[in-house]
Amino acid sequence: MSAITATHLGDNLPFGARICGVTRESLDDEANRELIRRTLRERGVIVFEDIEQTGEMQVALSKVLGPLKDHPVATVERADEDLAEGVIAIRSDGDTMMVEEDGKQLVTWQPWHFDHCYQNELNYAGVLRSVSLPRDDGMTGFADGIQIWNDLPDDLKARIDGKTVIHTLFLRLSDMKFDTGGFEVVMDADDEIYKFAATLPRALHPAVWRRETGEKVFHMAPWMAFGLLEDESEAGDRLFAEVWEAAKKVMKSYYHKWQGSEMVAWDNHRMLHRGQGSSPDEVRVMHRTTIKGDYGLGRWDEGHLATRWVPEAAE
Ligand SMILES: [Fe+2]
Repeated sequence: MSAITATHLGDNLPFGARICGVTRESLDDEANRELIRRTLRERGVIVFEDIEQTGEMQVALSKVLGPLKDHPVATVERADEDLAEGVIAIRSDGDTMMVEEDGKQLVTWQPWHFDHCYQNELNYAGVLRSVSLPRDDGMTGFADGIQIWNDLPDDLKARIDGKTVIHTLFLRLSDMKFDTGGFEVVMDADDEIYKFAATLPRALHPAVWRRETGEKVFHMAPWMAFGLLEDESEAGDRLFAEVWEAAKKVMKSYYHKWQGSEMVAWDNHRMLHRGQGSSPDEVRVMHRTTIKGDYGLGRWDEGHLATRWVPEAAE
């Protein structure tokens, strides 16, 4: 049985691993499966190098990390429902959001976020695979909630620890409340997802939480964030913005440049991620699995339906 090897992703990164040698055969070995699970728990993100580029392999690898679950949004495109539930396609063509950043138009540009923040339950992890790549850009960024928390200034830690963040599925970039500098919205999300967003209660997640292994995890991101529970005031919004700006300053990020021969898994309870975006003239398609496993700290804001935050200038 072939062995697999795990190394750190970068010398200066406190998170991330690179695993080589994963084949369908090697996944039959429980020692290899446990190495993959342990590495994700310890390092938060794994780049699997030179791995078979099929949906079957992506699902087999994902199932090592946990059972799959369906994606909560029915209008999100499914990659292959016959293969497994919750395998979604992220496409740059068709109806997609577009921004202009530094004079470049970019599609599938996504701000920092964690998946399913607009739900009471999170998914534990996802595995991403590139199906069609642009020549340039299109990187996926990852940042570590443990590292961010460790490096935040103590006074901000004291002010944000114990707070609860409100999220909604109102994901239009022009409706963002926090971290709105540096880009112009060219095209935004369609109405379908907004109809669904309006049926959901607000989702609540802790701004900071502690893992079983003892580390505290910074758990805030600007995309789909509505504000702080019990502090829905200008002062509360200012605190969110101040903490997020400080988080960006201390953040050590890793941007994965896709080669077409790898897959990337990340712990969605711990890591923030974002899409760099790519040219609208080229097609970029990614497939992502949805791995079940909740951290148990999110909840619905019962009786409080999500509402859209409208920027003042748009009113
Ligand atoms: Fe995401």
